[in-house]
Amino acid sequence: MNAGQGNIPEKVIDAVLEQHDIVDTVSRYVHLTKQGKYMKGLCPFHSEKTPSFTVTPDRQIFYCYGCGKGGNAIKFRMEIEGLSFPEAVKVMAEESHIAVPEGQGAVVNPPNPERERLLQAYEWTAKFYHFLLKNTEHGKAAMDYLRSRGFNDKVIDQFQIGFAPDRWDTLVQFLTKRSFDLHEMEKGGLLTKRQDSEDFLDRFRGRIMFPIHDRNGKIIAFAGRILGDGQPKYLNSPESKLFNKSRILYNLHQAKPSIRKLRQIVLFEGYGDVISAWEAGVQNGVATMGTSLTESHAALMKTMADEVVICYDGDRAGQAAAMKSIPLLEGVGLSVRISVLIEGLDPDEFIRKYGADRFNRQMIDGAVSTTKFKLIYLKKNHILLEEEGKIAYTKEVLPIIAALPSSTEREVYLKELASELQLSFESLKQDCNEIRQSMQKNMPDGDNNDKRWNNGRHKKGQVAAPTLLPAYHTGERRLLAMMLQDAEAASYVEKRLGDAFNIDDHAAIAAYLYAYYAQGKPPDISRFMSSLHDDRLEKTVSSISMMDTPPEWNVQELDDCIREVQKVPQKRQIDKKKEEMINAERSGDFLRAAQIASEIIALERQ
Ligand code: CTP
Ligand code: MN
Repeated sequence: MNAGQGNIPEKVIDAVLEQHDIVDTVSRYVHLTKQGKYMKGLCPFHSEKTPSFTVTPDRQIFYCYGCGKGGNAIKFRMEIEGLSFPEAVKVMAEESHIAVPEGQGAVVNPPNPERERLLQAYEWTAKFYHFLLKNTEHGKAAMDYLRSRGFNDKVIDQFQIGFAPDRWDTLVQFLTKRSFDLHEMEKGGLLTKRQDSEDFLDRFRGRIMFPIHDRNGKIIAFAGRILGDGQPKYLNSPESKLFNKSRILYNLHQAKPSIRKLRQIVLFEGYGDVISAWEAGVQNGVATMGTSLTESHAALMKTMADEVVICYDGDRAGQAAAMKSIPLLEGVGLSVRISVLIEGLDPDEFIRKYGADRFNRQMIDGAVSTTKFKLIYLKKNHILLEEEGKIAYTKEVLPIIAALPSSTEREVYLKELASELQLSFESLKQDCNEIRQSMQKNMPDGDNNDKRWNNGRHKKGQVAAPTLLPAYHTGERRLLAMMLQDAEAASYVEKRLGDAFNIDDHAAIAAYLYAYYAQGKPPDISRFMSSLHDDRLEKTVSSISMMDTPPEWNVQELDDCIREVQKVPQKRQIDKKKEEMINAERSGDFLRAAQIASEIIALERQ
């Protein structure tokens, strides 16, 4: 995503970068050890055992050779805390007491007194309910119930679980004492109004309260579970100024670091599932708010992870919901696996019955591919002991297998199907191929049709430059590396090469760099990066700045590189001429052919 700069003045951005040293910033999250010019550590953005994450104090940037993430201190905070560019600048400016001029940084969070008051009320209410649960007679039954479900004190604190007593005005009194406007509290979802009167009542009564946080950890709603049986089992806060169900994921604020590290999200149906799984060591778990998954949810997940493991209830409803969620998640480019819960259990029940180890092994690590899941799911509709059942089932699943881009994968599933249904593999394969052929005919652009299935799976960030790049590619990178460190080098290259880099991203970086120096700014990689606002370019710049280049640029070195870069268009021109020459010869135009030949020789001499 391209985070816009909003209208934060450049002065502020520069000051933020000045005050936030990259080593200090990163050290809050990563243990760094010094290694020559660099600091090294384990990458917080992907999981690894040997450190490939580097910080270069000289250049004030970080770069990971493993996953290709890189940038300056602002970028690091954006990535690790899930902030947009203006949000990160605002937070960092506040930390170092840098004033963000009125009406400018304000884009980040327009001061909205009503919103602030409501947030305050939610925070205090959560503390109040938590206190009532743990320390008063009102909360005793609820506490017993939670204990009987295996929730210990640590987890009750961690998830700030509370209890709303079964009375009409506990919260009304609490909020009144603290001078909150009750109308506002009603609009914000904490209270309700008695019909045909002006009396306010507590919305939640006799319920165990699960606070719902936004991604930054602010409480914006509650889910209240009834104590024991009764309807509705869960009562959620209504949508409000703060709370939009279709965008919120329960526990995202706590799960974020683990999600970013593993690049994986485990998606649950229930609050209890998230909490039990957390205790079982699954700290990248989130849940929707009792509503189905939306496209907004999927898009949000894609900003943090590459893979989602769907871990819904093992009952029919849960499995049907999983089936529905697959296309939504794949649609945004996430890869998906599904955990198939046995005996109709939900994850919380599974953990209590079989333990954390088995849950991690069987349900998370052992989650199956979407194809496998579809085969299992559709099987339940058919009686496979009967011929008609077999045929109907085969008809349903063959198109799914036929759509797989990999022939090995198709073969694996066809073999499984053959042995399970005791059908001939050869005939299944033939049917499958026929379906595949007719599918391909119906695809708009023939060979490219496996793009859809490949979506996002192989692009875990641009990886560090492979060792064997073509000479012109390395030449371009070396040029940019020297230009990033020296304005004079940049101006030398600008005169001779301009934007004639063969790789588009390199041409773009060069153009930005010329513009940057044209404003009279000194070389400063980190500052330059924050002017790019393009994730891919930032990564490329980080990767380029990690190259070993001579400390002082020299004309010789630049000329060598420029020559390599210019060779490419010339070589292309020569190849084109050769082709023209062959064509001329074929059509008997030998005069023309001879003419082209001499042009080729001239080009080659250059
Ligand atoms: N849900 C809801 N409103 C209901 C019932 C369920 O919002 N009346 C949502 C809740 O988010 C709940 C999820 O759907 O967590 C799954 O429902 P269910 O499986 O019935 O609840 P559990 O989470 O298993 O609850 P518990 O373990 O406390 O019985
Ligand atoms: Mn459940």
